[in-house]
Amino acid sequence: MTLLAFSVLATGAAVMVAAQSTYPATPLASKHFAYPTGIPYKVDTEDHLIRGRQAGYNICNSTTEGQESLCQTSFVNSIDDFCLWAPIKPDSIVGNVEGDMVAWCTKPGHGSRLIPNGALQGIQFMRTPDYVQVIGFVEQTKINIALGDWGGEMDPHGADLRGNPLGGLLYSNAFSGANKNDFKQVIEWHNFIGGNAFCIKACDPAGPNAAKFCEHIFDRIGCAYNAPNNAQNGTFESCEGENQDFPGHWVENGVTRTYTQPPESLGAISTLPYTARVPASSSCVGHTSSVLYSALATVTAPGDEATSTGTSGAGSSTGTNSGSGTATGTAPRASGTGNSADVLAVSGFATVLGVVFSALFFA
Ligand SMILES: *[C@@H]1O[C@H](CO)[C@@H](O)[C@H](O)[C@H]1NC(C)=O
Ligand SMILES: *[C@@H]1O[C@H](CO)[C@@H](O)[C@H](O)[C@H]1NC(C)=O
Repeated sequence: MTLLAFSVLATGAAVMVAAQSTYPATPLASKHFAYPTGIPYKVDTEDHLIRGRQAGYNICNSTTEGQESLCQTSFVNSIDDFCLWAPIKPDSIVGNVEGDMVAWCTKPGHGSRLIPNGALQGIQFMRTPDYVQVIGFVEQTKINIALGDWGGEMDPHGADLRGNPLGGLLYSNAFSGANKNDFKQVIEWHNFIGGNAFCIKACDPAGPNAAKFCEHIFDRIGCAYNAPNNAQNGTFESCEGENQDFPGHWVENGVTRTYTQPPESLGAISTLPYTARVPASSSCVGHTSSVLYSALATVTAPGDEATSTGTSGAGSSTGTNSGSGTATGTAPRASGTGNSADVLAVSGFATVLGVVFSALFFA
């Protein structure tokens, strides 16, 4: 269907420009499916639209599981059980393939790809009253993202309402109390990945402000503004915390103010008028990555030597960390003393590296 539309366009029939539509009959975020039996083979079947067809499928099982999987049904459950959206093919630029991303998970059972051993270098899982969020440091070439790519944003909206990836679904058992077999569809979520770091936030579908906490319009200002956090590279921890401010909102002298992201046509975003508040966290429990991700021990990245899968990524951080209060106020690692990449992508402060920052999340 897509090929047909394009070949007609190529003959110069201008009227067909209007004939090929952009928007689906139903936006992705309005398509709701009970897990697992309600999920269709493909959520997006409108192949005639401008962006073409959904790259993968949504029914994922033991047959589809493996490093060739095109599963586009994802999960954010807990520190040891979550998935990232990452490219199908090695060496991809996120901004070029965000419509085609597939699920890469931390354990088998989701019919997806698995994140190669050692790729996860630090993880903070955070639960707050309105959402769960995973912040991470990742060696992105192991999940098919090109070296040096500053990445982009995935969410169930996108400019054409078909989502990035097209047809991508997200589920979680984090909002079902003690029943860990009850996976609720997460209607509002956002995921930034690039610069060897990522953040993924899944908002409680029953929460009144899910769309605000998981806002999808600030695609150029990265994790530090969309998911402000105090995650640290090399540390694996599971925490509880207070809610963030809604992305793009901040409080100054007791007054809530809102940010408007300028259009890309106006050039780089070199400064922002605020620093996003990192909310207090507490009850952080440290983990050892080799225990959390034991199922990944034999999973190698394309191009890796089989012998290189030994102990890399076995986290050195164990024990507890009561982070309460220490991360309030301004961004904790904005001093420029840390690794520039994590300052930029995860918990940073835009003005530290000003212009480079603007190239961060352009999608
Ligand atoms: C497993 O998933 C594939 C791909 O979506 C699907 O074609 C197949 O029917 C599924 N198998 C079962 C037993 O559900
Ligand atoms: C995280 O730490 C690892 C190991 O020290 C390092 O190789 C990597 O570059 C760091 N990642 C970021 C984003 O700073």
